Amino acid sequence: MALHESVLEEFGLAPLWVRRGMSAAQEQQGRMQAPVEAQPPRTPEPPAFDGPPDDDFAWFDDQPAHAPAEARREAPEPSSIQTLDWDALSEQVAACQRCRLCEKRTNTVFGVGDRSADWMLIGEAPGENEDRLGEPFVGQAGKLLDNMLHSLTLARDRNVYIANVIKCRPPGNRNPEPDEVARCEPYLQRQVALVKPKLIVALGRFAAQSLLRTEASISSLRGRVHEYEGVPVIVTYHPAYLLRSLPDKAKAWADLCLARDTWLAAGGVPSNAAK
Ligand code: URA
Repeated sequence: MALHESVLEEFGLAPLWVRRGMSAAQEQQGRMQAPVEAQPPRTPEPPAFDGPPDDDFAWFDDQPAHAPAEARREAPEPSSIQTLDWDALSEQVAACQRCRLCEKRTNTVFGVGDRSADWMLIGEAPGENEDRLGEPFVGQAGKLLDNMLHSLTLARDRNVYIANVIKCRPPGNRNPEPDEVARCEPYLQRQVALVKPKLIVALGRFAAQSLLRTEASISSLRGRVHEYEGVPVIVTYHPAYLLRSLPDKAKAWADLCLARDTWLAAGGVPSNAAK
């Protein structure tokens, strides 16, 4: 993918790392390389964020999760949700009491973005900031996510829809329980049916395992195209995890390149392309 390096800098990716400790000649040579070929230095520096990440979820992306498939059998999907329009669906989520997470939430976090977007990004569950503001990915991880989107000429208010598997904050940011996933999933299924995205990007282990009904590790799920509700799915690391694991940002960039290729193959039209 030919993208100017400035967008990769926004994403905090390789050219920045390459430039540190490089001579001018090397840098010039580096400019001519394809972004995905740029190599991080042996000792990557920490990301340039003002403060520590405010998301303290336990996103250990390579650890096993609960058994989502088993839980799904416990909570049959209410078919009535699958006929709701956007307004009725968001009202139903706002009033939801289908699991214990309703007891401690401040706000439900329904989703945000372009409701007819080609791209749908799916995270895990709201954190503290999201619970307070009622919008997904508004903390430091959200800033990184916005930069990742920007590097693909995408933005949450234009051509992307962002939602979570779980619509209410698990207390203390604990991992959602299987029955909570099962009770919340019909909302996400309906959102996917209404948006009709050409591509889903699963952000992190939890979202990937929940959507794909698997306990496979994120590293084994990355790099290939899966499917959820008939939509191609690409798995990548959670932005909160990437805030702590700089080397995996390069892998996340490779995931986004695969996502873009998959979107193009599904008929996606780049915004700068002649119509
Ligand atoms: N992490 C998520 O997975 N979703 C959010 O909305 C915020 C943080």
